[in-house]
Amino acid sequence: MASKDLKFNTKTIHGGQQPDEAYGAVMPPIYQTSTYAQTTPGGHKGYQYSRSANPTRTALENSLASIEGGEFGLAFGSGIAAIDAVIKLLEPGDEVISTDDLYGGSYRIFKKIFEKFGIVFHFVSMQGTDAVRDKINSKTKLIWVETPTNPMMNIIDIKAIAALTKDKDILLAVDNTFATPYLQMPLELGADIVMHSATKYLGGHSDTVVGALVVKDKELADKLYFVQNASGAVCGPMDSFLVLRGIKTLHVRMQRHCENGRAIALYLKSNPKIEKVYWPGFEDHPNHHIAKEQMKDFGGMISFVPKGGSYDNAIKIVERLQVFTLAESLGGVESLAGHPASMTHASIPKEERLRSGVVDSLIRLSVGIEDVDDLIADLEQAIE
Ligand SMILES: Cc1ncc(COP(=O)(O)O)c(C=O)c1O
Repeated sequence: MASKDLKFNTKTIHGGQQPDEAYGAVMPPIYQTSTYAQTTPGGHKGYQYSRSANPTRTALENSLASIEGGEFGLAFGSGIAAIDAVIKLLEPGDEVISTDDLYGGSYRIFKKIFEKFGIVFHFVSMQGTDAVRDKINSKTKLIWVETPTNPMMNIIDIKAIAALTKDKDILLAVDNTFATPYLQMPLELGADIVMHSATKYLGGHSDTVVGALVVKDKELADKLYFVQNASGAVCGPMDSFLVLRGIKTLHVRMQRHCENGRAIALYLKSNPKIEKVYWPGFEDHPNHHIAKEQMKDFGGMISFVPKGGSYDNAIKIVERLQVFTLAESLGGVESLAGHPASMTHASIPKEERLRSGVVDSLIRLSVGIEDVDDLIADLEQAIE
C-alpha cells in the first residue's frame, strides 16, 4: 500500500520506511559515517558526504514528510536551525509578518540575527486576520505562524491566513511544534512549510535536539535543501534515529498527553487559588471554535496564573513541584513546568512580553504521560 494511503497511526510507524537494504534491519541503522566509498569519482550508491545526505537522516526525513502529509522532509540540528534555513530563503528588504505571541527563541533569531541583514519583521496579533492583511505589501515574502502559541496557547486560523497569501508571492510557514501532525496538519490547511522543534513531541523523550521542515513543492524543497547543505546545520545520524524511534509512538503518546492535559486544565480551572488558565479546549477560550475546527484535540500544553500571583510566588510554586520537573523544553513523556518570564521568554523585552500576556507570575506546564492523579496531587501540594 502506498505510504500516502495509510492512516496516521500507521504512517507514524511505517510512513516512508522500508527494511534496510543491507541486512533487512527493521529499524534504520545508525549510519555513523561522514563519508562513503566511491568506485570511481561520482560512482557511489546515492551518498557522498553526510552533510549533504546520510541514510539514517533520509529515513527520518521520509518519515517526517509522510506524517505531515508532505512530499519532502528536511532534518536539522535544532528547531532554530530549521527556522534559520527558512529565513535564508529571503533577500535584504523582504518583509516577514509573524505573531506577537511567539516562542522567544524564534523572536530572537528574527530580531537579533536576521534584522541586521536587512530583513524586516512585523509582529502583529493573529487572533483575527485584519492586522496581517494590513501589513501585507509587495515586499511581504513570508508569514510565520505558530499555533497554539508558546506560552499563551492562542490559536491562529491557518486556513484564514493561507487565504491571505493566495495568488501572492508569499510563503506561509507554520511552527507545528505544540500540535504535531497528530492534532493538526498545516499543509492540508494551506501552509507551504511546516516547521518543528522535533526536540519536543516528535522526539518525545527529552533526549535530543532536532529540527524539521516539511514541504509539498519540489522547487521549494530544492531551495531549502540548498540552504541545508550550504549552511550545514544538519541533524546527525544518532539524533535522526532517536527522533525516528520517537515518531513511532507519537500517536499513543499524544493521545495520553491530551487526556492528561484535559484533566489538569479542568482541575486548575476549578482551583480557587488559580486566577486564569490558558488551554484551547475551554469553550470560553477566545479561538476555541478555530481550535475545534483545525485540531483533533487540544494537546498537553497549559499555562496558568495563580491568584494574586507575583514573580516570587510563581517561582515558589515551580520550585515546590516534585513529579513535574522544573526545566526548559516540553513534549517529553515526563511532565515539565517552566516560568516563561525568566526562562523560555526571557529574551523578549518585558513590555513586549507583557503586551502578549506573559506576566511575571505565568507558569507553563508540559503535561506528560504519567498517572494523572499523581500530577494533580503534585500541583495541589505546590499551589497550597
Ligand atoms: C514552538 C517552538 N518553536 C521552536 C523552538 C526551537 O526549537 P529547538 O529548541 O529545537 O531549537 C522551540 C523550542 O522550545 C519551540 O517551543
